[in-house]
Amino acid sequence: MAEDFTDKVVLITGAASGIGLSQAKLFKDNGAKVIAVDKNEIPLDVMSFNGDVSQSEFIDNLFDSIKSKFNTLDIVCNTAGILDGYSPVTETSLEQWQNILNTNLTSQFMVIKKALPMMLDKGKGVFVNMASIAGLVANGGGVAYTASKHAVIGMTKQLDIDYANQGIRANCIAPGAIDTPMNAADFAGDGKMAKWVADQTPAKRWAKPEEVAELALFLASDRSDYIHGSVVPIDGGWTAQ
Ligand code: NAI
Repeated sequence: MAEDFTDKVVLITGAASGIGLSQAKLFKDNGAKVIAVDKNEIPLDVMSFNGDVSQSEFIDNLFDSIKSKFNTLDIVCNTAGILDGYSPVTETSLEQWQNILNTNLTSQFMVIKKALPMMLDKGKGVFVNMASIAGLVANGGGVAYTASKHAVIGMTKQLDIDYANQGIRANCIAPGAIDTPMNAADFAGDGKMAKWVADQTPAKRWAKPEEVAELALFLASDRSDYIHGSVVPIDGGWTAQ
């Protein structure tokens, strides 16, 4: 039987589009109080905050609001992220590198740092951090994206084992080819790139963001209570090849 998320307070970053938007819809449909965060407008009737998750001032203000409105937090889905144009080192400027790392990795660290004390206070909390197959193998992005997603996995493992004995769980999702606006370029024109990606994927298709949201819901639920510090691929078999 599906778990009831009624009265659970869930923070979701990257909630204006793609996987984050699907997560926000699914948690809302399951009764959760969703706090949606994105730099873009969020097309959903939930409590929303617009800002840049790579900026510490925005994160500070966000958590001031969460504390004053809810004074609690049960679940965090760290989903916001950006791709890097698949650039190797020689074509990656220091500025681009820092932007990718700040957006994909440091944002998650800052959110976790603020959320954790509230969770430790009540002895329970769950993090579902968005990695990628690029966190497990090369070629899912360029050097900055791949480094950021490998680091998300390392951070999540350490976070989990540092606090597992205090009621905290932290896991990563590692999606493969998910049909979201992030990959719009692959579908542009004759969609040759998208067809190639599907062909290279053992399951021979792209996945919908809703499929990733279902996995996040499971990882956030008590049904996955023994899953700790893990990376769960949802990649149509890509990394099993
Ligand atoms: P998307 O581009 O559809 O959505 C990402 C959302 O994050 C956007 O709404 C964007 O505005 C927001 N965002 C980006 N930077 C932000 C910032 N600095 N501050 C606030 N909001 C920001 O992309 P998608 O596909 O839904 O990606 C979500 C996550 O899943 C990302 O972390 C991505 O790396 C990861 N992922 C996606 C895969 C895919 O095939 N779509 C595969 C593997 C991982």
